[in-house]
Amino acid sequence: MPKRETFQDLVLEPRKDGQEMWRWLYTELRSAIIDGRLKSGARLPSTRNLAAQYGFARGTVVAAFQQLQAEGFVSSEVSAGTFVLPAPGWELPSPAKQRSSRQAISRATIAKRTQSLLKTTFLQPASHSVGKAFRGYEPAIDLFPVEQWARIAARVYRKAPRSLYGQGDAGGYPPLRRAIAEYVGRSRGVRCSAEQIIVTSGAQQALDLLARVLLDPGDQVWMEDPGYPGASQAFQSAGASVIPIPVDGDGMDVARAIKSSPAARVVYVTPANQFPLGVVLSAERRVELLSWAARAGAWIIEDEYDAEYRYSGKPIASLHSLDRSGSVIYVGTFTKMLFNALRIGFIVVPERFVEAFRIARSFMDRHAPTLDQAVLTEFINEGHFGRHVRKMRQVYSDRSQLLAEEANRRLAGVLDVEHAQSGMCTVAWIKTRVTEMVLKRRAEQLGLEVSPISSFVIKYEQKPALFLGFAGCNENEIKRGVSVLEAILSR
Ligand SMILES: Cc1ncc(COP(=O)(O)O)c(C=O)c1O
Repeated sequence: MPKRETFQDLVLEPRKDGQEMWRWLYTELRSAIIDGRLKSGARLPSTRNLAAQYGFARGTVVAAFQQLQAEGFVSSEVSAGTFVLPAPGWELPSPAKQRSSRQAISRATIAKRTQSLLKTTFLQPASHSVGKAFRGYEPAIDLFPVEQWARIAARVYRKAPRSLYGQGDAGGYPPLRRAIAEYVGRSRGVRCSAEQIIVTSGAQQALDLLARVLLDPGDQVWMEDPGYPGASQAFQSAGASVIPIPVDGDGMDVARAIKSSPAARVVYVTPANQFPLGVVLSAERRVELLSWAARAGAWIIEDEYDAEYRYSGKPIASLHSLDRSGSVIYVGTFTKMLFNALRIGFIVVPERFVEAFRIARSFMDRHAPTLDQAVLTEFINEGHFGRHVRKMRQVYSDRSQLLAEEANRRLAGVLDVEHAQSGMCTVAWIKTRVTEMVLKRRAEQLGLEVSPISSFVIKYEQKPALFLGFAGCNENEIKRGVSVLEAILSR
């Protein structure tokens, strides 16, 4: 026989401002059931009595009871009344008990792979300002043709068929895949079909997707050292074992890698513009790497995050264009060529694995936003992309030169800034006794962003240096940045 209980025992918390009456009553009753103040089997007062007792409208009580019933806290029987369901599990442990239980101890920490992620000193903060000296990998937003982009976006959104508002293709919007295949073929010698293009949310997601598709826990990955932390973290998150390979003036030391870890399954390289040192992988090492990968059956991930920007000599051919054994997987991104918030990148995957990549991609976040992909497609097909990149090539070259000249004039002997031959960032070698970290901290206090080269080191120490981005800063900002560095270093 169920126990009778009245509401005299229940203390109801005051109602919050704006909270609907029925929702408040439902929440209070639910808490009473969960805390055990209303025991399993207890009969609740009738809706009429409860309404009268508290001065509620009866409809309020009915709505609260209905919600409790829908969620399985109570059951109502005509003529018998409403009872708290006999489910001992409702009585959740108190916070003190939770802390002492074994499950709670395991909840005290997060997964080990994320713990290691949190140790990184390489974090890309949300930047609600742009154009700050010397933020790495920020393109020139001041010169981006916003009007042009907005006109295309307005047109695309207005005219897009309704089908573009539905679920899209996990591999990417087909016209964009065609435009990318055509572009990488023409500009980087990457021969591929549109089907081989998988559109991703920037190069970072491309690396994560590659790690998921290509690597099993324990697989070895050669990683340039110093190198791009976003890549090593993606590989480590997949359980892979990252093998740091030192970089010298000719890029990754391939011979040393072959000798030390010949069983690697994947090699990650930035051959056209090594991140962060800016060196080019020499022709000899390219051949050595390609031949080894062909023999060993290993994959080479070629990350061409900013290969469009080369300021002297002929463009460096992509590794993909030299590959005859199908070892190279090419990664590119529009975030550095256009603007970071765009978050569109791509992978050129081997034909036989297109389906695997599409499926893996669809389980990450289904697909990249279709309408943004459509805007980018028009931007490329109408020639604005090519024009913008050509213009930026000149602008970035000028900005790199200005930075090197200003630094040479004002910081000679204390900070040796290289005039970058490619890319959007350069290295500034510290020639005084001040440490990278002190320099970084003081620079930050004075509104500069600089990255110590040590934040890209895995194992092989580098001489002290800063990694400076110049592409996103205009002339004044570059000059101001150099004078701030001068002020810090002259102290
Ligand atoms: C070498 C390298 N690869 C990949 C990325 C990631 O690019 P995205 O912003 O397109 O994800 C970056 C970003 O700075 C990078 O430097």
